[in-house]
Amino acid sequence: MTVKEILAPIETEMQLFEVRFHESMKSKVPLLDKITHYIIRRKGKQMRPMFLFLTAKMLGEVNDKTYQSASLVELLHTATLVHDDVVDDANERRGFFSVNALWKNKIAVLVGDYMLSRVLLHSIENENIRSLQIVARAVREMSEGELLQIEKARKLDITEEVYFEVIRQKTASLIATVCEAAAASVDREDMAPTMRQFGELVGLAFQIKDDIFDYGTPGNIGKPTGNDIRERKMTLPLIYALANSDRDVRKELMNIVKRHNEEKKYVNRAIELVIAAGGIEYAHKRMMELKTEALNLIKDVPDSPAKRSLVGLVEYTVAREK
Ligand code: IPE
Ligand code: IPE
Ligand code: MG
Ligand code: MG
Repeated sequence: MTVKEILAPIETEMQLFEVRFHESMKSKVPLLDKITHYIIRRKGKQMRPMFLFLTAKMLGEVNDKTYQSASLVELLHTATLVHDDVVDDANERRGFFSVNALWKNKIAVLVGDYMLSRVLLHSIENENIRSLQIVARAVREMSEGELLQIEKARKLDITEEVYFEVIRQKTASLIATVCEAAAASVDREDMAPTMRQFGELVGLAFQIKDDIFDYGTPGNIGKPTGNDIRERKMTLPLIYALANSDRDVRKELMNIVKRHNEEKKYVNRAIELVIAAGGIEYAHKRMMELKTEALNLIKDVPDSPAKRSLVGLVEYTVAREK
Protein backbone atom coordinates (compact mmCIF):
# COMPACT_ATOMS: atom_id res chain seq x y z
CA MET A 1 0.00 0.00 0.00
CA THR A 2 1.32 3.46 -0.86
CA VAL A 3 1.18 6.32 1.62
CA LYS A 4 -1.47 7.92 -0.54
CA GLU A 5 -3.62 4.80 -0.35
CA ILE A 6 -3.07 4.56 3.39
CA LEU A 7 -4.24 8.16 3.78
CA ALA A 8 -7.37 7.79 1.62
CA PRO A 9 -9.86 7.00 4.43
CA ILE A 10 -8.62 9.91 6.60
CA GLU A 11 -7.90 12.59 4.01
CA THR A 12 -10.29 15.22 5.40
CA GLU A 13 -9.27 14.42 8.97
CA MET A 14 -5.59 14.98 8.20
CA GLN A 15 -6.37 18.29 6.48
CA LEU A 16 -8.37 19.58 9.44
CA PHE A 17 -5.70 18.30 11.79
CA GLU A 18 -3.06 20.31 9.97
CA VAL A 19 -4.95 23.57 10.55
CA ARG A 20 -5.53 22.84 14.22
CA PHE A 21 -1.97 21.69 14.72
CA HIS A 22 -0.59 24.98 13.39
CA GLU A 23 -2.93 26.95 15.61
CA SER A 24 -1.84 24.97 18.64
CA MET A 25 1.71 26.29 18.28
CA LYS A 26 1.09 30.01 17.72
CA SER A 27 2.84 32.53 19.93
CA LYS A 28 3.02 36.31 20.22
CA VAL A 29 6.73 36.24 20.93
CA PRO A 30 8.36 36.99 17.56
CA LEU A 31 11.34 34.63 17.97
CA LEU A 32 9.08 31.76 19.03
CA ASP A 33 6.75 32.43 16.15
CA LYS A 34 9.64 32.42 13.72
CA ILE A 35 10.96 29.11 15.03
CA THR A 36 7.59 27.37 15.18
CA HIS A 37 6.97 28.49 11.60
CA TYR A 38 10.29 27.01 10.63
CA ILE A 39 9.35 23.72 12.30
CA ILE A 40 5.93 23.60 10.65
CA ARG A 41 7.39 24.17 7.19
CA ARG A 42 9.57 21.07 7.56
CA LYS A 43 6.84 18.74 8.63
CA GLY A 44 7.52 15.13 9.46
CA LYS A 45 5.76 11.99 8.31
CA GLN A 46 2.94 12.62 10.81
CA MET A 47 2.67 8.92 11.49
CA ARG A 48 1.32 9.39 15.02
CA PRO A 49 -1.76 11.36 13.88
CA MET A 50 -2.22 8.80 11.12
CA PHE A 51 -2.24 5.95 13.65
CA LEU A 52 -4.64 7.95 15.77
CA PHE A 53 -7.22 8.71 13.09
CA LEU A 54 -7.06 5.26 11.50
CA THR A 55 -7.47 3.50 14.85
CA ALA A 56 -10.35 5.80 15.82
CA LYS A 57 -12.06 5.31 12.47
CA MET A 58 -11.57 1.57 12.58
CA LEU A 59 -13.36 1.46 15.94
CA GLY A 60 -15.94 4.25 15.69
CA GLU A 61 -16.57 7.85 14.63
CA VAL A 62 -13.80 10.44 14.62
CA ASN A 63 -14.88 13.41 16.77
CA ASP A 64 -13.53 16.50 18.48
CA LYS A 65 -11.72 14.46 21.13
CA THR A 66 -9.87 12.58 18.38
CA TYR A 67 -8.74 15.88 16.83
CA GLN A 68 -7.62 17.20 20.20
CA SER A 69 -5.52 14.12 20.81
CA ALA A 70 -3.98 14.29 17.34
CA SER A 71 -2.71 17.85 17.84
CA LEU A 72 -1.46 17.06 21.32
CA VAL A 73 0.43 14.01 20.25
CA GLU A 74 2.12 15.60 17.25
CA LEU A 75 3.00 18.65 19.34
CA LEU A 76 4.46 16.46 22.03
CA HIS A 77 6.40 14.43 19.46
CA THR A 78 7.78 17.61 17.87
CA ALA A 79 8.83 18.98 21.25
CA THR A 80 10.72 15.80 22.06
CA LEU A 81 12.53 15.89 18.71
CA VAL A 82 13.68 19.46 19.37
CA HIS A 83 15.04 18.34 22.74
CA ASP A 84 16.38 15.05 21.37
CA ASP A 85 18.58 16.84 18.86
CA VAL A 86 20.11 18.86 21.68
CA VAL A 87 20.70 15.68 23.70
CA ASP A 88 22.14 13.81 20.69
CA ASP A 89 24.04 16.85 19.41
CA ALA A 90 22.49 16.31 15.97
CA ASN A 91 22.52 19.11 13.44
CA GLU A 92 20.09 17.76 10.90
CA ARG A 93 16.38 16.98 11.11
CA ARG A 94 13.80 16.38 8.40
CA GLY A 95 16.29 17.10 5.68
CA PHE A 96 17.37 20.44 7.03
CA PHE A 97 19.14 22.07 9.97
CA SER A 98 17.85 21.16 13.41
CA VAL A 99 16.65 23.95 15.71
CA ASN A 100 19.80 23.66 17.82
CA ALA A 101 21.97 23.86 14.71
CA LEU A 102 20.39 27.17 13.69
CA TRP A 103 19.59 28.82 17.04
CA LYS A 104 21.87 26.95 19.49
CA ASN A 105 21.04 24.73 22.44
CA LYS A 106 19.74 27.40 24.81
CA ILE A 107 16.99 28.41 22.46
CA ALA A 108 16.19 24.84 21.41
CA VAL A 109 15.69 23.80 25.04
CA LEU A 110 13.31 26.71 25.64
CA VAL A 111 11.39 26.12 22.42
CA GLY A 112 10.90 22.47 23.41
CA ASP A 113 9.72 23.57 26.85
CA TYR A 114 7.33 26.05 25.29
CA MET A 115 5.81 23.35 23.11
CA LEU A 116 5.47 21.00 26.07
CA SER A 117 3.70 23.69 28.07
CA ARG A 118 1.29 24.21 25.18
CA VAL A 119 0.50 20.49 25.23
CA LEU A 120 -0.42 20.66 28.90
CA LEU A 121 -2.40 23.89 28.53
CA HIS A 122 -4.41 22.47 25.64
CA SER A 123 -5.47 19.49 27.73
CA ILE A 124 -6.57 21.82 30.51
CA GLU A 125 -8.37 24.24 28.18
CA ASN A 126 -10.29 21.34 26.69
CA GLU A 127 -11.01 20.00 30.18
CA ASN A 128 -9.70 16.73 28.98
CA ILE A 129 -8.28 15.06 32.09
CA ARG A 130 -7.91 11.75 30.36
CA SER A 131 -5.65 13.26 27.73
CA LEU A 132 -3.71 15.16 30.41
CA GLN A 133 -3.09 11.89 32.20
CA ILE A 134 -2.10 10.11 29.02
CA VAL A 135 0.26 12.88 27.95
CA ALA A 136 1.88 13.25 31.37
CA ARG A 137 2.55 9.53 31.46
CA ALA A 138 4.08 9.59 27.98
CA VAL A 139 6.35 12.52 28.88
CA ARG A 140 7.53 10.74 31.99
CA GLU A 141 8.26 7.53 30.10
CA MET A 142 10.05 9.29 27.27
CA SER A 143 12.34 11.20 29.63
CA GLU A 144 13.02 8.07 31.64
CA GLY A 145 13.82 6.16 28.46
CA GLU A 146 16.25 8.80 27.20
CA LEU A 147 17.96 8.96 30.61
CA LEU A 148 18.18 5.19 30.92
CA GLN A 149 19.79 5.20 27.50
CA ILE A 150 22.39 7.77 28.53
CA GLU A 151 23.18 5.88 31.71
CA LYS A 152 23.61 2.59 29.86
CA ALA A 153 25.42 4.06 26.89
CA ARG A 154 28.11 5.43 29.19
CA LYS A 155 28.65 2.10 30.89
CA LEU A 156 28.60 0.18 27.61
CA ASP A 157 27.02 -2.79 29.33
CA ILE A 158 23.61 -2.71 27.74
CA THR A 159 21.87 -6.02 27.16
CA GLU A 160 19.15 -6.76 24.66
CA GLU A 161 16.69 -6.73 27.52
CA VAL A 162 17.68 -3.22 28.60
CA TYR A 163 17.63 -2.05 24.98
CA PHE A 164 14.01 -3.14 24.69
CA GLU A 165 13.20 -1.36 27.94
CA VAL A 166 14.81 1.84 26.62
CA ILE A 167 12.93 1.83 23.32
CA ARG A 168 9.70 0.81 25.00
CA GLN A 169 9.92 3.94 27.12
CA LYS A 170 11.36 6.47 24.74
CA THR A 171 9.40 5.61 21.59
CA ALA A 172 6.85 2.83 21.97
CA SER A 173 5.08 4.45 24.92
CA LEU A 174 3.96 7.41 22.78
CA ILE A 175 2.67 5.24 19.94
CA ALA A 176 0.95 3.02 22.51
CA THR A 177 -0.63 6.16 23.95
CA VAL A 178 -1.77 7.25 20.50
CA CYS A 179 -3.62 4.01 19.84
CA GLU A 180 -5.08 3.91 23.35
CA ALA A 181 -6.27 7.53 23.13
CA ALA A 182 -7.82 6.80 19.74
CA ALA A 183 -9.95 4.01 21.20
CA ALA A 184 -10.88 6.17 24.19
CA SER A 185 -11.85 9.10 21.96
CA VAL A 186 -14.53 7.06 20.19
CA ASP A 187 -15.81 5.59 23.47
CA ARG A 188 -14.36 2.17 22.87
CA GLU A 189 -12.75 1.76 26.29
CA ASP A 190 -13.25 -1.98 25.82
CA MET A 191 -10.59 -1.88 23.08
CA ALA A 192 -8.25 0.61 24.78
CA PRO A 193 -5.94 -1.96 26.42
CA THR A 194 -5.62 -4.04 23.23
CA MET A 195 -4.90 -0.96 21.15
CA ARG A 196 -2.33 0.21 23.68
CA GLN A 197 -0.55 -3.12 23.37
CA PHE A 198 -0.84 -2.96 19.58
CA GLY A 199 0.74 0.52 19.61
CA GLU A 200 3.51 -0.62 21.87
CA LEU A 201 4.48 -3.47 19.55
CA VAL A 202 4.34 -1.17 16.52
CA GLY A 203 6.37 1.41 18.43
CA LEU A 204 9.10 -1.10 19.22
CA ALA A 205 9.27 -2.10 15.56
CA PHE A 206 9.29 1.61 14.64
CA GLN A 207 12.37 2.34 16.77
CA ILE A 208 14.22 -0.77 15.57
CA LYS A 209 13.67 0.49 12.03
CA ASP A 210 15.00 3.90 13.06
CA ASP A 211 18.06 2.29 14.64
CA ILE A 212 18.69 0.29 11.46
CA PHE A 213 18.57 3.55 9.46
CA ASP A 214 21.46 4.82 11.53
CA TYR A 215 23.62 2.04 10.07
CA GLY A 216 22.70 3.00 6.52
CA THR A 217 23.92 5.55 4.05
CA PRO A 218 23.08 9.19 4.68
CA GLY A 219 20.95 11.11 2.23
CA ASN A 220 17.35 10.13 1.92
CA ILE A 221 16.35 9.78 5.58
CA GLY A 222 16.76 13.49 6.31
CA LYS A 223 18.90 13.12 9.40
CA PRO A 224 22.51 12.10 10.10
CA THR A 225 23.59 8.44 10.06
CA GLY A 226 26.33 6.93 12.21
CA ASN A 227 25.16 9.24 14.96
CA ASP A 228 24.29 6.47 17.42
CA ILE A 229 27.83 5.08 17.62
CA ARG A 230 29.18 8.63 17.81
CA GLU A 231 26.87 9.17 20.78
CA ARG A 232 27.87 5.72 22.16
CA LYS A 233 24.28 4.66 21.79
CA MET A 234 24.24 0.88 21.76
CA THR A 235 21.32 -0.23 19.63
CA LEU A 236 20.12 -3.69 18.64
CA PRO A 237 22.47 -4.30 15.66
CA LEU A 238 25.52 -3.45 17.78
CA ILE A 239 24.32 -5.34 20.84
CA TYR A 240 23.83 -8.42 18.69
CA ALA A 241 27.21 -8.03 17.00
CA LEU A 242 28.98 -7.72 20.35
CA ALA A 243 27.28 -10.80 21.75
CA ASN A 244 27.83 -12.91 18.64
CA SER A 245 31.33 -12.14 17.41
CA ASP A 246 34.68 -13.65 18.31
CA ARG A 247 36.97 -11.94 20.78
CA ASP A 248 38.96 -9.91 18.26
CA VAL A 249 35.95 -8.34 16.61
CA ARG A 250 34.37 -7.65 19.97
CA LYS A 251 37.52 -5.93 21.19
CA GLU A 252 37.78 -3.84 18.06
CA LEU A 253 34.14 -2.78 18.29
CA MET A 254 34.41 -1.89 21.98
CA ASN A 255 37.57 0.06 21.32
CA ILE A 256 35.92 2.13 18.62
CA VAL A 257 32.83 2.87 20.68
CA LYS A 258 34.92 3.79 23.72
CA ARG A 259 37.83 5.65 22.21
CA HIS A 260 37.21 6.51 18.57
CA ASN A 261 33.50 7.24 18.50
CA GLU A 262 34.06 10.78 17.26
CA GLU A 263 36.16 9.72 14.26
CA LYS A 264 34.21 9.12 11.08
CA LYS A 265 36.69 6.58 9.69
CA TYR A 266 36.43 4.40 12.81
CA VAL A 267 32.67 4.74 13.00
CA ASN A 268 32.43 3.49 9.43
CA ARG A 269 34.63 0.55 10.33
CA ALA A 270 32.36 -0.30 13.27
CA ILE A 271 29.35 -0.13 10.98
CA GLU A 272 31.07 -2.59 8.62
CA LEU A 273 31.80 -4.97 11.48
CA VAL A 274 28.22 -4.83 12.75
CA ILE A 275 26.85 -5.56 9.29
CA ALA A 276 29.32 -8.43 8.78
CA ALA A 277 28.31 -9.93 12.13
CA GLY A 278 24.68 -10.08 10.98
CA GLY A 279 23.51 -7.32 13.34
CA ILE A 280 21.24 -5.67 10.81
CA GLU A 281 19.71 -8.95 9.68
CA TYR A 282 19.01 -9.88 13.27
CA ALA A 283 17.41 -6.52 14.09
CA HIS A 284 15.31 -6.84 10.96
CA LYS A 285 14.12 -10.26 12.01
CA ARG A 286 13.12 -9.05 15.49
CA MET A 287 11.31 -6.07 13.94
CA MET A 288 9.29 -8.31 11.64
CA GLU A 289 8.31 -10.56 14.56
CA LEU A 290 6.99 -7.56 16.48
CA LYS A 291 5.04 -6.41 13.44
CA THR A 292 3.38 -9.81 13.08
CA GLU A 293 2.53 -9.84 16.77
CA ALA A 294 0.94 -6.40 16.46
CA LEU A 295 -1.17 -7.36 13.44
CA ASN A 296 -2.34 -10.48 15.26
CA LEU A 297 -3.93 -8.32 17.93
CA ILE A 298 -6.34 -6.71 15.48
CA LYS A 299 -7.09 -9.72 13.30
CA ASP A 300 -10.63 -10.05 14.68
CA VAL A 301 -11.58 -6.42 14.19
CA PRO A 302 -14.16 -6.25 11.36
CA ASP A 303 -12.78 -5.36 7.94
CA SER A 304 -13.13 -1.75 6.73
CA PRO A 305 -11.16 0.76 4.64
CA ALA A 306 -9.75 2.23 7.89
CA LYS A 307 -8.62 -1.16 9.10
CA ARG A 308 -6.96 -1.98 5.80
CA SER A 309 -5.12 1.33 5.94
CA LEU A 310 -4.06 0.73 9.53
CA VAL A 311 -2.58 -2.61 8.50
CA GLY A 312 -0.94 -0.77 5.59
CA LEU A 313 0.52 1.77 8.00
CA VAL A 314 2.02 -1.00 10.14
CA GLU A 315 3.56 -2.51 7.01
CA TYR A 316 4.84 0.95 6.04
CA THR A 317 6.45 1.33 9.49
CA VAL A 318 8.80 -1.55 8.80
CA ALA A 319 9.25 -1.01 5.04
CA ARG A 320 9.61 2.80 4.90
CA GLU A 321 12.70 4.44 3.48
CA LYS A 322 12.72 7.45 5.77
C1 IPE B 1 11.69 10.14 14.92
O1 IPE B 1 10.32 9.96 14.69
C2 IPE B 1 12.00 9.88 16.36
C3 IPE B 1 11.87 8.48 16.75
C4 IPE B 1 11.06 8.13 17.69
C5 IPE B 1 12.69 7.48 16.12
P1 IPE B 1 9.70 10.09 13.23
O2 IPE B 1 10.49 9.24 12.29
O3 IPE B 1 8.24 9.82 13.31
O4 IPE B 1 9.97 11.62 12.88
P2 IPE B 1 9.21 12.61 11.89
O5 IPE B 1 8.15 13.28 12.70
O6 IPE B 1 8.65 11.84 10.75
O7 IPE B 1 10.27 13.58 11.47
C1 IPE C 1 14.24 8.58 19.43
O1 IPE C 1 15.54 8.15 19.32
C2 IPE C 1 14.15 9.83 20.22
C3 IPE C 1 12.86 10.14 20.84
C4 IPE C 1 12.01 9.27 21.25
C5 IPE C 1 12.55 11.56 21.04
P1 IPE C 1 16.60 8.69 18.29
O2 IPE C 1 17.53 9.67 18.94
O3 IPE C 1 17.22 7.53 17.60
O4 IPE C 1 15.72 9.49 17.23
P2 IPE C 1 16.33 10.22 15.96
O5 IPE C 1 17.08 9.19 15.18
O6 IPE C 1 17.21 11.32 16.47
O7 IPE C 1 15.12 10.73 15.21
MG1 MG D 1 18.30 11.48 18.17
MG1 MG E 1 17.72 7.36 15.53
